[in-house]
Amino acid sequence: MGAGAPSPDAVAQGKKILVCVTGGIAAFKVVAVVRSLAETGADVRVVMTPSAHHFVGAQTFAALSGNPVATEMFGSGAAVPHVELARGADLVIVAPATANAVAKMALGFADDLFSAVLLTVRSPVLVAPAMHTEMWEHPATQRNVAALEERGITLIGPSEGALSSGDSGAGRMSEPEEIVRAGLRALGRAEDLAGVRALVTAGGTQEPIDPVRFVGNRSSGRMGFAIAQEAAARGARVTVVAGATSAEPPPGIEVVRVATADEMRAAVLERAPECDVTVKAAAVADFKPREAVDRKLKKASGPPEITLVPTPDILAELGSSPGLRKARGILVGFAAETEPDPGVLGRLAEGKRRSKGADVIVANDVGSSDSGFGAATNRAVIASPDGLTDVGLVTKIALASALMDVVAGLLRTRRSL
Ligand code: CTP
Repeated sequence: MGAGAPSPDAVAQGKKILVCVTGGIAAFKVVAVVRSLAETGADVRVVMTPSAHHFVGAQTFAALSGNPVATEMFGSGAAVPHVELARGADLVIVAPATANAVAKMALGFADDLFSAVLLTVRSPVLVAPAMHTEMWEHPATQRNVAALEERGITLIGPSEGALSSGDSGAGRMSEPEEIVRAGLRALGRAEDLAGVRALVTAGGTQEPIDPVRFVGNRSSGRMGFAIAQEAAARGARVTVVAGATSAEPPPGIEVVRVATADEMRAAVLERAPECDVTVKAAAVADFKPREAVDRKLKKASGPPEITLVPTPDILAELGSSPGLRKARGILVGFAAETEPDPGVLGRLAEGKRRSKGADVIVANDVGSSDSGFGAATNRAVIASPDGLTDVGLVTKIALASALMDVVAGLLRTRRSL
């Protein structure tokens, strides 16, 4: 990993960018997107759906990109055109993305070249929706959009403004410069953790009372898994140490399963010395039963008296003992707070950052139905040596992305010292 951040244009040089144009009037604005991207030195390929041809001629895109435009699954000469186009792509931009295109992506259709390409690519994907307000606001579209975001796909817009129907509202495609900027940012991010070893903890610990009962919590593991997915997408080699989770871990990432706080501590301390980044997203039980009995407690014996004792605070231990961590590594912790006010969240985050000796603390509100354990979104503030970042109410993957921006920035600074 280099010391300085590369210039936005330089990151596109020689990169293969696939621009998928679906059938909406905003297709005419994508002409400017393709031209700007081609000017950065990127190898731009355009895929058009059959209905996109009603709005812009393929010749226009072919001339600006310097490459033939692909539309058909069959008859193009390439043996497997969708695989050929998708493999080796560094970035895919879908613009304009109609309601139909969003639905097909959400459901994993593969009945034309566009949807087959989207099912095959493994690169970052940006989607710029454009449709009438009613279609954008329809619960079906909103559910499809949420499914895409959950998968790590970045949405750009839509914004509010004049629509082709003559009325005005949400559903207008973002401006070409915005789409190009988002594309260059995604390309920069796609490599900013290359060569980085990351350790992420996820889920909740379970502290046994007897062979069938435990003290646990509501953590689903989704936040930790989103961080692992985001770090891996940006080039890091990631290991997840996971306690109990109801969510599925992201594919292709090493997962080490543990049950208790003590097991999590052992798994983390074994790996932390090799890791450039350690993110403690797990909800570790603060207390455990003093002893777990080895036979099931019987109802007839009456309510048991359970004495709780503190568990080891793994984050604080790592924070106070630099010898347990890699030199110049980044230690990230979470603070679960029942507090929606970003000002208060920020103060709590900074307080915990100092008291636990972490480099970064993400304070998130776990008290509201739209934020925290089990919810798809989180309201969070990130405290780092560079100050506070109020992330607002965002999806877990968007929070993971904001966190990795902070981590990548800190790593760059430390490596250049
Ligand atoms: N943590 C840990 N070991 C523990 C408890 C917590 O490593 N035994 C880590 C968590 O993974 C998380 C952070 O510490 O990164 C949370 O710290 P904690 O003090 O438990 O914060 P809250 O859950 O916010 O609890 P409280 O406000 O009650 O202190």
